[in-house]
Amino acid sequence: MTRSWTNPLRDPRDKRLPRIAGPSSMVIFGVTGDLSRKKLMPAIYDLAHRGLLPPGFSLVGFARREWEHQDFGELVHDAVAENARTPFRESVWNRLAEGIRFVQGTFDDDDAFDRLAATVRELDTERGTGGNTAFYLSIPPWAFPIVSKQLSRSGLADADDSTWRRVVIEKPFGHDLASAQELNGVVNQVFPEESVFRIDHYLGKETVQNILALRFANQLFEPLWNAHYVDHVQITMAEDIGLGGRAAYYDGIGAARDVIQNHLLQLLALTAMEEPVSFEPGALRAEKVKVLGATKAVGPFDETTAAGQYSGGWQGGTKVPGLAQEAGFAKESTTETYAAVTLEVQNRRWAGVPFYLRTGKRLGRRVTEIAVVFKRAPHLPFDSTSTDELGENAWSSACSPMRA
Ligand SMILES: NC(=O)c1ccc[n+]([C@@H]2O[C@H](COP(=O)([O-])OP(=O)(O)OC[C@H]3O[C@@H](n4cnc5c(N)ncnc54)[C@H](OP(=O)(O)O)[C@@H]3O)[C@@H](O)[C@H]2O)c1
Repeated sequence: MTRSWTNPLRDPRDKRLPRIAGPSSMVIFGVTGDLSRKKLMPAIYDLAHRGLLPPGFSLVGFARREWEHQDFGELVHDAVAENARTPFRESVWNRLAEGIRFVQGTFDDDDAFDRLAATVRELDTERGTGGNTAFYLSIPPWAFPIVSKQLSRSGLADADDSTWRRVVIEKPFGHDLASAQELNGVVNQVFPEESVFRIDHYLGKETVQNILALRFANQLFEPLWNAHYVDHVQITMAEDIGLGGRAAYYDGIGAARDVIQNHLLQLLALTAMEEPVSFEPGALRAEKVKVLGATKAVGPFDETTAAGQYSGGWQGGTKVPGLAQEAGFAKESTTETYAAVTLEVQNRRWAGVPFYLRTGKRLGRRVTEIAVVFKRAPHLPFDSTSTDELGENAWSSACSPMRA
């Protein structure tokens, strides 16, 4: 008797045909790094497990250390077995591993990129990847420009009319407006805008996507979703962990750049935007751009923002160090681990409604939440003693937290 396997990630009521990607390969720069081991490679395994990868799918990992092919294979195998969301099955892994290669080199090494180009071409011939390649830059931000230039120099970025090349860029995308624009300039010299994917993992979270369904597929909320009924909105991403081993990376970035300017502003945009004409990327982007264009900081900066660093103390029954004691963090650093800002969306729907955005590490509880807090009823026909402590109605969307 054969046992059928039920995909744990698929709702049995979902009768849509799965969308399987067309022939393609992927190059992951920084394949041995934290993000790749914990998230990217396990996600690729999950796709393989769910039968969503094209048959000849191939993957080339690029990183600096000199791994023997077998050691690299073991590293990725163990990381996937530990972090995949679907059950780990050797047979699925072995099939996927047949198409995995490793190229060792540094980003300034022309030979390494030429070897990479040769490997991608070989895989195309051997496994039929259709000449389509996605380049995932899971590497330190300073390396985005040099890797873009190497992709251009080595011919890896060249696509013809029948093939595509795409580049996926991790955050942080620059550290201010000028550096983000400069980076856009470098990347767009190599890849046209429609081939550039700046990743914000938050947007893939189901709860985040459900905000749009809740708002626009319902009659119930939309009539109330405005300044007439909403008192204020709180968007919170609280983490109970400290920086641990990531202190050196975090120093100089801080909570506002790491979380507010990307994840929390995206959540604000989804909460406050008008209905898009369709769910095509261009239509969604147009509405987000409009609402973000209307979003302004209100009041004097020192009254509408807050920043801080965590200090040592107790969490549950465990003694935890303060920021200054975390390894790799400069003691005199002023980088914030807590940041809060009050914003206002200055349009007809939202004028006068404060949006409070806040994030921090080592806070009392781990939660990511959007709370839309409604105004109190204008009249309460109850005995005043039983209504004194009555709060406001709130709609709250809690997302399971993930690491930023
Ligand atoms: N980790 C996360 O959860 C997370 C979340 C969101 C965004 N990000 C972003 O994702 C990117 C990667 O983060 P990460 O945490 O994975 O970093 P990481 O653990 O430090 O890994 C960096 C990777 O880049 C490679 N690398 C570094 N310098 C190199 C060079 N000169 N030449 C060739 N390869 C080099 C390393 O190779 P070796 O192993 O051989 O040294 C390693 O594979 C960063 O932009 C980060 O901001 C990370």
